[in-house]
Amino acid sequence: MSSAVHKALILPAKFAQFVVGELPTSKPDPGFVLVKIHAAALNPLDAGIQKMGVFITEFPGVAGNDGAGTIEAVGVGVTGLKKGDRVLYQGWWTPANRGTFQQFGIADAAVVAKIPDSMSFDEAATIPLGLATAAMGLYGKLNPKAFWGGGPGIIAPWADGGRGQFAGQPAVVIGGASSVGQFAIQLLKLSGNDPIITTASSHNEAYCKAAGATHVIDYHKTPYSDIVTAVRKITSEPVSLAYDAISSEDSQKSLWELLAPHGVLVVTHPPVVGKAGEEAEDGKRVVHVFGSAHSDDNREVGSAMYRALRGLLEEGVIKGNKVEVLPNGLAGIPDGLARLWTKTVSGLKLVSRPQETA
Ligand SMILES: NC(=O)c1ccc[n+]([C@@H]2O[C@H](COP(=O)([O-])OP(=O)(O)OC[C@H]3O[C@@H](n4cnc5c(N)ncnc54)[C@H](OP(=O)(O)O)[C@@H]3O)[C@@H](O)[C@H]2O)c1
Repeated sequence: MSSAVHKALILPAKFAQFVVGELPTSKPDPGFVLVKIHAAALNPLDAGIQKMGVFITEFPGVAGNDGAGTIEAVGVGVTGLKKGDRVLYQGWWTPANRGTFQQFGIADAAVVAKIPDSMSFDEAATIPLGLATAAMGLYGKLNPKAFWGGGPGIIAPWADGGRGQFAGQPAVVIGGASSVGQFAIQLLKLSGNDPIITTASSHNEAYCKAAGATHVIDYHKTPYSDIVTAVRKITSEPVSLAYDAISSEDSQKSLWELLAPHGVLVVTHPPVVGKAGEEAEDGKRVVHVFGSAHSDDNREVGSAMYRALRGLLEEGVIKGNKVEVLPNGLAGIPDGLARLWTKTVSGLKLVSRPQETA
């Protein structure tokens, strides 16, 4: 295996253009597995990595955080996974063998989940980063000293007492048609929140409702400056939990105004309404999620989520995003990233099939 090579979408240097090339296929270290990647989903961050020179610090690098495929080899100490298992996993950026824009990748076994036979690799690949971002924002441990501020430490629905804990309590999700928003809605539904009010373009209303939203506000017709009034027309109950998958200045400010004392606002971009993790005077808190299930702060919660994931997928309560498969294997990824960078993708996840690379 050590002399084998495979195709990868390589970032040769900071700000360079992606090129399809070859990289050596690694053997998995203890605690890791080697995955033959059949589907890799694209995220806005992958575009940012190339455009802004962030996250990948060793070159040649490989982007891609979302992978699904079959296990090829298992490192020492890995239990519960074997060659041939169909899995999804969350990748990482360094070293290059951890990225998912390649035909074979190394995965940390703690963030690998077996997928049901009925689930396609394409759908499975849409799950890892979006789900981790939704979940770590809600269930991550609070850490006001960290740049990100951690999460509010809510009990996850797979933990004792988590399922249905917020029955009858409203929650608001900004950006219900985004990948992260879709998973935030699904998780809030598992927690029992009701109503779940979200914002999206009208043509994505059914998509948001299929995830569990009860009300969809078209943000093109109702600007964020009017969201408090719009939500108040739906519910007079205090809103103590809001997830802003988009986190523009106007959406954050409107949610902050809406939020009840001691409520929590989760944002995916740096907060403009307060310091991440710190309590405001009325007990409200904004937390800035770091969407990795295996960062130091998130590892415990992330591993527990991965242990529960197969069951949640089988139960059908966590579903992947709508998929558009890109042509030309890895070579099709740069055009897909350009679409994400210009924000012209609506209500679906772009997925590449690395094995279809010419
Ligand atoms: N902090 C982290 O660790 C982390 C992790 C992952 C993602 N993120 C960030 O979180 C954001 C969401 O990521 P994603 O992968 O979920 O994005 P995505 O799926 O590419 O988001 C696209 C969707 O965003 C929706 N949208 C755009 N502007 C909106 C607005 N003003 N109000 C409501 N919806 C709006 C669009 O909905 P319609 O088509 O219905 O208009 C579109 O379908 C990105 O900015 C990403 O960079 C952060």
